[in-house]
Amino acid sequence: MDLTKQVNNRKTFAIISHPDAGKTTLTEKLLLFGGAIREAGTVKGKKTGKFATSDWMDIEQQRGISVTSSVMQFEYDGIKVNILDTPGHEDFSEDTYRTLMAVDSAVMVIDCAKGIEPQTLKLFKVCKMRGIPIFTFINKLDRVGKEPFELLEEIESTLDIETYPMTWPIGMGQSFFGIIDRNEKYIEPFRDEEHRLNLNEDYELETSHPIENDSVFTQAIEELMLVDEAGDAFDQEKIAKGDMTPVFFGSALANFGVMNFLNAYIDHAPSPKGRKTVDDEFIAPDHDEFSGFIFKIQANMDPKHRDRIAFMRVVSGQFERGMDATLTRTGKKSKISRSTMFMADSTETVNDAYSGDIIGLYDTGTYQIGDTLCDKGKIQYEALPQFTPEIFMKVSAKNVMKQKHFHKGVEQLVQEGAIQYYKSMHTNQVILGAVGQLQFEVFTHRMQSEYNVEVVMDPIGKKEARWIHNEEDVTDAMNSPRSMLVLDRYDRKVFLFENDFAMRWFEDKFPNIELYSLL
Ligand code: G4P
Repeated sequence: MDLTKQVNNRKTFAIISHPDAGKTTLTEKLLLFGGAIREAGTVKGKKTGKFATSDWMDIEQQRGISVTSSVMQFEYDGIKVNILDTPGHEDFSEDTYRTLMAVDSAVMVIDCAKGIEPQTLKLFKVCKMRGIPIFTFINKLDRVGKEPFELLEEIESTLDIETYPMTWPIGMGQSFFGIIDRNEKYIEPFRDEEHRLNLNEDYELETSHPIENDSVFTQAIEELMLVDEAGDAFDQEKIAKGDMTPVFFGSALANFGVMNFLNAYIDHAPSPKGRKTVDDEFIAPDHDEFSGFIFKIQANMDPKHRDRIAFMRVVSGQFERGMDATLTRTGKKSKISRSTMFMADSTETVNDAYSGDIIGLYDTGTYQIGDTLCDKGKIQYEALPQFTPEIFMKVSAKNVMKQKHFHKGVEQLVQEGAIQYYKSMHTNQVILGAVGQLQFEVFTHRMQSEYNVEVVMDPIGKKEARWIHNEEDVTDAMNSPRSMLVLDRYDRKVFLFENDFAMRWFEDKFPNIELYSLL
């Protein structure tokens, strides 16, 4: 198959939600459709399954959370679909954000009773910044939740995006009868014993059914007519830019509404896109030369080895196992013989991969986040964004004799993208920054297990970090406990403000200092 066909045959998305909205359940149902798993429970089982002995997973188990964002591929209707899961806990890490840099669209799962929750909002903002299409699945319609209009309104106002309902629910909870497919004009009944009911253009039943006398049905039709009249028109271009989200209603647990979602997703989601290089050149996905970038490095997946796995998104050309690829940063060429692809319940050796595919490369410390691999070493993709950390810790080695190991460990983990490095202005005290508490736990754990260094953490808490456009105007007098001045790993000055109030006070006092935040 030629390159263009391979590219058009693929879709790659991240699935995002607030914990408990039903992300795992929906993923599982999608994998079932694709025949990637044979029974429900496989995806969840992973948490207690074969990785259970890994010490990396100890943290996960102790905390009851998913540290890893896993990647799964399945095939549906001749299309290879790559799903990238994002850890669903408040303590998610920069990895979660970076996963969104490796996909071409996102699926947002919302609990119909809860609406938009904080974590959805954070991840959503990153999608919006990248302008990637977002598909919304409103879940748990088998339970009573908010009214559909209220949910749409909430999505539109909180996320600043237009909505286009592709399906519409008839009732909810006990009275949930099913969903109306708006384009195809039929009712998909929720209960097994009922059959699909066709509707005409005016949403009238083609064959009589008792539901037509039910108030939930008349209400749903009235609502839908209102949406047709006053709602936004379907606009593929807006969807492609992330300015409109197609919305689906259903119940992942009951595997209901999932097929409607999947079919529409396949029809409307974009195929893999190319990427810009640091030289502002755009490399198309069907460009002849193989290229890809590393967006995540996972340590200790196998407890018997210290090796890491670097996750690479293929951007162009064909990846072949055993090929020689050049790491652009170092110009070094090497044979890539250990590459894996992740399936629902297994990892498999991958022999070839194309744009949109995510593959795992065995890494003994060669790769860094944002690295580009390609045939000739001429392509270097734009750096992945650095995210503004929110929590900070002073950190040092418990045993002063271990300074060397301590600094080596910090340096490597920072380079790898596990945590962010800062230091105090005059004392050179190491300060680490993270977007979630979990990153510190992972750091401590890895320093101990990989560098044999016990670290002491001294929390300095949540801070508002701001970089400075006109660093030359910053003076020592501006450094205070409420506006702590530090240096980042590139020696740029950064203010860590105690809170929003302290920042505003500072801005009033020093209006000439131009502050800015990263993403
Ligand atoms: P997450 O990955 O987003 O955190 O959510 P997950 O799929 O684990 O689902 C969270 C809980 O919500 C699970 O129940 C799951 O069974 C339930 N759930 C998911 N989809 C639906 C749905 O459409 N309707 C209803 N009523 N419930 C749904 P749990 O009791 O926490 O876990 P479990 O013991 O069932 O696995």
